[in-house]
Amino acid sequence: MTSRTTSNHEGIRLRTLSEIEQAGLRTLDRVIVEYLQGGAGAELTLARNRSDFDRIRFVPRVMSGRPYPSTATTLLGVDLRIPVMTAPFGSDGYFHADGHLAVARANERFGTCGIVPEAGTFSAEQVAEAAPKAATFGQLHPMGSEANFRSMVRRYVDAGYRGLVLTLDCPTPGWREHFLLNDFTVDSRVVSGNYPPGAEIDMERALEQLNPRGEPPWSWDKLGSLLAEYPLPWLAKGVLTPEDALAALDAGAAGVVVSNHGGRQLDGVRSTIEALEPIASAVGGRGPVVLDSGIRRGSDVVKAIALGADAVLIGRLAAYGIAAAGEHGAHQVLDLLRREIETVLVLLGRGDITDLDRAAVEWEE
Ligand SMILES: Cc1cc2nc3c(=O)[nH]c(=O)nc-3n(C[C@H](O)[C@H](O)[C@H](O)COP(=O)(O)O)c2cc1C
Repeated sequence: MTSRTTSNHEGIRLRTLSEIEQAGLRTLDRVIVEYLQGGAGAELTLARNRSDFDRIRFVPRVMSGRPYPSTATTLLGVDLRIPVMTAPFGSDGYFHADGHLAVARANERFGTCGIVPEAGTFSAEQVAEAAPKAATFGQLHPMGSEANFRSMVRRYVDAGYRGLVLTLDCPTPGWREHFLLNDFTVDSRVVSGNYPPGAEIDMERALEQLNPRGEPPWSWDKLGSLLAEYPLPWLAKGVLTPEDALAALDAGAAGVVVSNHGGRQLDGVRSTIEALEPIASAVGGRGPVVLDSGIRRGSDVVKAIALGADAVLIGRLAAYGIAAAGEHGAHQVLDLLRREIETVLVLLGRGDITDLDRAAVEWEE
């Protein structure tokens, strides 16, 4: 676990997102840097998640006569100052001693919200207590024992979460060669916030994503009927095809998260920005479409919204923020994104982010 605490952030310069990335990485051991930055297999998807954003060009209009644009939006009734939420990344204690407590406090102070991981360093209740408004969505892996799954859903409900995010692309961990090369296993202390020693449920469940037991993945029917018993809306995270997006909605999902887990699961799949448009068309407004994987700057957010996303998640960017300077670093990430998004919107001449049209971007041939 990291030795970094909230008290030693003075003097760190955080003027751009890449400066925050570099500052954050400097605080981490090499093996943790590789764990955070790395992807699966030959890291083709990891690279594509970035290079495909570079294939999208903006198409600005001048003299629009529009007032200064607003970056605000809402998602499932939750107000967001910018269409950016933090992704559920587990093992957060590796990056800063306050992990998702710092992320949630930054989200609350900034005016957005986050998805709190099941396999995090702190419990769902601790994060909700640290920032009640920003601990909005609780993440779960639908696998293993049904009783344990139900118990975790109940805890999110009782702790005041307003929605759930179901991670569907992780029935077994991706083939991550840096684990092999570094002889690396995740320290149980950074993933067991929800399952401390002596808890009713042992932490086997938290580690399931790392130590699969060869059980078959659940079906849409099982997941949908189970979640229908609870009052919270849920998003299906890890969807990469229109077919799966429609299956998720038919199973009762309120919306989908187009994600390839930041290139950490199945290597060789499409980038999410490439997968987005056909999924958004198929969903056709039946629910929100969120995108993650590869967001590194404000212009990426604007491109994703123009291609049909309602909001995006940031995983590594938020981790770099807390690694660099805890809550302050995560807040600075959000504020830099906001300022860049505003600049891009003004220069695009399109008005508010919620009015962005498809013609604002084009794909390079
Ligand atoms: C260190 C790390 C741990 C992660 N742990 C989880 C997790 O426990 N559950 C989950 O749904 N996604 C997890 N993810 C994936 C993120 O939620 C998100 O999909 C991904 O980070 C987005 O890509 P980006 O990092 O390029 O923004 C993790 C990602 C990272 C980098």
